[in-house]
Amino acid sequence: MSQLRIAVIGSSGMLGQELVRFCTKRDMDLHSYRGCESLDVTNSDAVSKAIRGFDVVINSSGYTDVDGAESDSESAMNVNQRGPKNLAKACLENNALLVHYSTDYIFNGASIAAHRIDDEPGPCNIYGLSKLAGEKAIRETGCKHLIIRTSWLFAAHSKNFVRTIFRESQIRDTLKVVSDQVGRPTLCCDLAEQTLSLLASSAHGTFHVTNGGSCSWYEFAKEIISLMGNNCIVQPCKTSDFPRPAARPGNGVLDLGETIKLIGKPRDWNIALRDCMKELINESKMNEGDSTITPKHSISKNA
Ligand SMILES: NC(=O)c1ccc[n+]([C@@H]2O[C@H](COP(=O)([O-])OP(=O)(O)OC[C@H]3O[C@@H](n4cnc5c(N)ncnc54)[C@H](OP(=O)(O)O)[C@@H]3O)[C@@H](O)[C@H]2O)c1
Repeated sequence: MSQLRIAVIGSSGMLGQELVRFCTKRDMDLHSYRGCESLDVTNSDAVSKAIRGFDVVINSSGYTDVDGAESDSESAMNVNQRGPKNLAKACLENNALLVHYSTDYIFNGASIAAHRIDDEPGPCNIYGLSKLAGEKAIRETGCKHLIIRTSWLFAAHSKNFVRTIFRESQIRDTLKVVSDQVGRPTLCCDLAEQTLSLLASSAHGTFHVTNGGSCSWYEFAKEIISLMGNNCIVQPCKTSDFPRPAARPGNGVLDLGETIKLIGKPRDWNIALRDCMKELINESKMNEGDSTITPKHSISKNA
């Protein structure tokens, strides 16, 4: 695998950073395009030039503002549908493999069972529609591809749920967190590692990749706070208590059967969370004294 020339698109993003970290540690032949300014995936000419000569193109770019997509569907469709389509066409011309990330949000989440790869999609929001359109565009182009559906990404850096709870629980006595949405939290570095394992096993087509186990956002928040040793109280609430612009699937659990057959079982989300929390807590200790902690006050929060 070290001889493959790999391009990572969207390397300034949460997952992109971990992909670069993972590949760099293993001395892979890697080139990264950080974000829109270094390579705008919606510009087909720029994409066609940028990926010439690569064997594998890993696309971790995306329009990821789920609520924002409801009022700016054009941007969401441009980045999440036209972007992958441009990349797929360029990969076809170069005989390169396109690795692309999709989401549990392509399903409506109404079923109780975990979503299998071939289950009928039915997004309940614009973001999900745009990601589904991206998947379809890649398949229609006919390039070699590996579409990886994942969910609930977190890392010790970037904007994500773990960092939000970590921060808010230090300044609030109480947090209200939704308990009627269930999914599989996924540590970005684990996803990066599993992506490379799938590549090494010559996987093609569509796969589900997350950490193991599942939980609600409420349970996720409770685990974060318990690992912090914080006494902030987490209260469960319903999605309908805090209406948001975009609807969310109730059940976002992805079935991992096909992936496990190829590359084995992932570790559970709560084990992965421990590593992330260690990093966050160490970083926060190092920064102690730099920041002023706001006095605690009671407030409801839909994280
Ligand atoms: N976060 C999750 O929970 C989650 C769950 C399931 C699937 N996914 C999918 O996983 C992938 C990575 O997610 P993430 O959370 O790491 O995303 P992220 O942190 O929001 O990063 C997105 C990246 O895309 C780049 N980007 C945006 N528009 C672009 C454009 N027109 N051309 C080139 N690059 C562009 C951004 O750079 P600039 O802003 O500098 O342009 C950034 O580097 C996405 O495809 C996302 O849909 C994420």
